[in-house]
Amino acid sequence: MNAVAVPELHTERLLLRGWRGEDRAPFARLNADPRVAEFLSAPLDRPESDAFVDRIVRHWADDGFGIWAVERTEDRSFLGFTGLSAPAFEARFTPAIEVGWRFAPDAWGHGYASEAARAAVRFGFEALELDEIVSFTVPANSRSRAVMERLGMIREPADDFDHPNLPEGHPIRRHVLYRLDRSAWLATSPST
Ligand SMILES: CC(C)(COP(=O)(O)OP(=O)(O)OC[C@H]1O[C@@H](n2cnc3c(N)ncnc32)[C@H](O)[C@@H]1OP(=O)(O)O)[C@@H](O)C(=O)NCCC(=O)NCCS
Repeated sequence: MNAVAVPELHTERLLLRGWRGEDRAPFARLNADPRVAEFLSAPLDRPESDAFVDRIVRHWADDGFGIWAVERTEDRSFLGFTGLSAPAFEARFTPAIEVGWRFAPDAWGHGYASEAARAAVRFGFEALELDEIVSFTVPANSRSRAVMERLGMIREPADDFDHPNLPEGHPIRRHVLYRLDRSAWLATSPST
């Protein structure tokens, strides 16, 4: 399933790695969970979840970066994903590279998302030499916003935007944008 060699990133408790066939079932369970989908468009069924994995695998092959599967080192269980992608819509801040995350509810509240996202952001600035990484979500997604803030990302209210792929009046159309500048990250991040 891994057509390209996805770089593996190790953190204190996690392994960020390429996707395996056995990730598909737990990923589909996570995507079908209404708690996970609360601030996303809708829960995904199994074919939609599998198609999402296919797109992720293609993205690595086409672009050389993307979204990692996240595994807990201790018991090798699949927890969710984090990674880098290019938003597929036009807005004031695009073209851009976005960092994102999605974890199974059982894995919330342990700091895993922030730990994995720090490694993904480091990869973006060090290996890809990006100048900036953004992230966005709906204003009410306080858990996701807290991850952005733990990473040191900054939100300027003037950057808030309406998602261009969602119609006027859609409940999750309004988004907040967070930015992390390379120089700000270098100034605060310990070197390895
Ligand atoms: C967004 C999401 C990944 C955040 O998960 P999370 O578990 O809240 O985030 P973290 O992994 O950073 O964990 C932080 C929490 O773990 C706690 N924690 C416990 N042990 C910890 C440790 N060793 N280190 C750090 N934090 C720890 C923190 O205190 C914090 O708790 P709090 O929420 O009570 O303040 C998760 O809610 C999710 O997958 N949501 C659904 C998908 C989604 O909305 N994705 C984003 C779309 S924009």
